[in-house]
Amino acid sequence: MRTRPLKVALLGCGVVGSEVTRIITTQADDLAARIGAPIELAGIAVRRPNRVREGVPADLLTTDAMALVKRGDLDVVVEVIGGIEPVRTLITTAFEHGASVVSANKALLAADGASLHAKAVEHGVDLYYEAAVAGAIPLIRPLRESLAGDKVNRVLGIVNGTTNFILDKMDSTGAGYSEALDEATALGYAEADPTADVEGFDAAAKAAILAGIAFHTRVTIDDVHREGITEVTAADIASARKMGCLVKMLAICERSADGRSVTARVHPAMIPLSHPLASVREAYNAVFVEAEAAGRLMFYGPGAGGAPTASAVLGDLVAACRNKLAATTGAGESAYTQLPVSPMGDVVTRYHISLDVADKPGVLAQVATVFAEHDVSIDTVRQQGKDGEASLVVVTHRAPDAALSATVSSLRKLDTVRGVASIMRVEGE
Ligand code: HSE
Repeated sequence: MRTRPLKVALLGCGVVGSEVTRIITTQADDLAARIGAPIELAGIAVRRPNRVREGVPADLLTTDAMALVKRGDLDVVVEVIGGIEPVRTLITTAFEHGASVVSANKALLAADGASLHAKAVEHGVDLYYEAAVAGAIPLIRPLRESLAGDKVNRVLGIVNGTTNFILDKMDSTGAGYSEALDEATALGYAEADPTADVEGFDAAAKAAILAGIAFHTRVTIDDVHREGITEVTAADIASARKMGCLVKMLAICERSADGRSVTARVHPAMIPLSHPLASVREAYNAVFVEAEAAGRLMFYGPGAGGAPTASAVLGDLVAACRNKLAATTGAGESAYTQLPVSPMGDVVTRYHISLDVADKPGVLAQVATVFAEHDVSIDTVRQQGKDGEASLVVVTHRAPDAALSATVSSLRKLDTVRGVASIMRVEGE
């Protein structure tokens, strides 16, 4: 075995960073045997050096992250701080000083992955980020390497544990959104400010990363259509159940039917109880990949948490260290298809629309005419009357999202339609 250790620096030492440090320290011999040389922790950049971090050597802590990445003798920098700046500058500086980077930073990769990849190539180093999407679940490497010879057409997944926990609670207990969110917060699943999760920003960043890799193109978070779960009601969940469905927050990345573009979107949707994603409970993640030769693959596991995320970081760290030893680099960005990202209006999907209408002759015909005018075909209609008013649930066949959304706008203008109680897409059939 080579005697010079591989020098690794850590940027950030919170929940994930502490676990990464613990595994590097406690599994040192195994990691050395797998890599071919030992790992030496060269420094850990933190904001609060006086915070107690069990098992983290205090003498390695520094508040000067920039000085750490500029040392010039680092083999790999592990970034688990998150956010855009100063992390982008720290990562590019690490590249400029010859270090490969392992990052868990979905926001940065989804905003600016292309320029980071270009910088890594320019300096002959690796950029790995398995931990950025779905925690411990191996997804980036399978998409980039195992499926490199196949053609992926669709990625459909639950990539946010907090929203899955909330929707699962609403389904299993009949609770409303706020009550389920309170429980998720009390149990530590939701953060004090849950915006990134419940409004879909976290899932959209992950969808952008997955779409880019799956379709060998470039997709940023700005290309991803995003809708959160804050408007999902107990009535939506109950209505889904009546259809034999569950409501899940999905990230969906698809190649268009003609293969000339891709789409990426994140929104709550009804999926049939028979779909494998319906069995994903609590805060678990799962991603369904449909590839031409492989068929349908499902990846399942814990999508967050210190140890699971550290597992993904360590996998990347071992790969980056092996490459350093072999004086090579691994598979980098593959964006050769340059497929454009189409707007949400082009996505072909189904709608479940719940309307409050006047219960009198001709109303159903009026509503049906609006659908026909927009060339949207109705699959089923269910009506329940109550005191001169009725609740009308219409499920459509597949149609372009733009046509479905124009249908809803026209329905809102009908005098006989008192209100649109809910609109939800139906997926996974
Ligand atoms: N907050 C995320 C989730 C985990 O709830 O899944 C980190 O991406």
